Amino acid sequence: MQKCMSLLSMLLMVLLLFTVAACGQDAGKNPGTSDNNANDEDGIKIGLSVSDLSLERWQHDRDFFVAKAEELGASVLVQSANGDEAEQLSQIENMISQGIDALVIIAINSDALTTVVDQAKAEGIPVLAYDRLINGSDVDAYVSFDNVRVGEMQAEYLLEKVPAGKYFLMGGSPTDNNAKMFREGQMNIIQPKVDSGDIEIVGDQWVKGWDATEALKIMENALTATNNQIDAVVASNDSTAGGAIQALQAQGLAGKVVISGQDADLAAVQRIAEGTQSMTVYKPIKAIAEKSAEVAVALAKGESVTADSTIHNGKVDVPFIKLDPIKVDKENLVDTVIKDGFHSYDDVYKNVPESERPPRP
Ligand code: GAL
Repeated sequence: MQKCMSLLSMLLMVLLLFTVAACGQDAGKNPGTSDNNANDEDGIKIGLSVSDLSLERWQHDRDFFVAKAEELGASVLVQSANGDEAEQLSQIENMISQGIDALVIIAINSDALTTVVDQAKAEGIPVLAYDRLINGSDVDAYVSFDNVRVGEMQAEYLLEKVPAGKYFLMGGSPTDNNAKMFREGQMNIIQPKVDSGDIEIVGDQWVKGWDATEALKIMENALTATNNQIDAVVASNDSTAGGAIQALQAQGLAGKVVISGQDADLAAVQRIAEGTQSMTVYKPIKAIAEKSAEVAVALAKGESVTADSTIHNGKVDVPFIKLDPIKVDKENLVDTVIKDGFHSYDDVYKNVPESERPPRP
């Protein structure tokens, strides 16, 4: 009897030891290990660092990007820095320590990410600059639109409506490299008309963080300074256009002053349908998000990137995958953002009387 008991207790002990060892292996898979092997059994992990989700378009970018990446078998760790540069840096450092296989960044400050990009590269993690170029570091790919062309389209549209007059330049965020590219395109079109005396630039301000409230204040001050003598506003995106239009509305000028935009935000296309915003530049978000997801997965697998051009970022010539922007105004809302499924017909024309709406697609 005693022998049986001691045999049983030995068997139980061996069983217990095996159980603990098995648990130890599971616990040992610490998510904190910086395992950047893209082909480990966990599959590809992509870190997506978003500048902020307050502006509508970035919510669409995130959703389309994650859906495509998951369709390609990858998982995505998304973090939004809410416009805080220091927060974006620490979030990226944290992602790197979690062992991601590719890093995708929507930069707040195009010139302030060198350290974390260098850190990622040192860990063997490829880096993709999403829509906004990252300067001064060894970035593997830049996926965006032809942003100089965006600026040209904005200015061309305004010039068509107001070939001569007083123009106010409402620039984007001064830390966003794209804002400089839009302005370059705008001046490609406007400068010759300034030189000929047809256009007078009555003001030029940049809007920190693309913030609508900031744009509202800038426009209020501009209208006061010019005694409301402004014929056109070159707004670089829809949130700043929205702020400017609020100021114009207060002076009874909304719909009278021609104003550009960009992103085809819902509020902006509603304003276009109502006639207070003149146009926007639609950059098919699904296209950039899905393309970026494909490129990020390819980079994670160590595949090379084929790009139609390169862009120098102060350190390297970055492969630039350039997508085409689309001009949108009252005439083609249905054939663009609605047919694309980016916004619904009812949402776009919500504030327009039925009798004044174009036929449904
Ligand atoms: C820019 C982007 C624009 C617009 C803007 C505001 O970098 O290229 O399309 O989204 O940011 O967020």
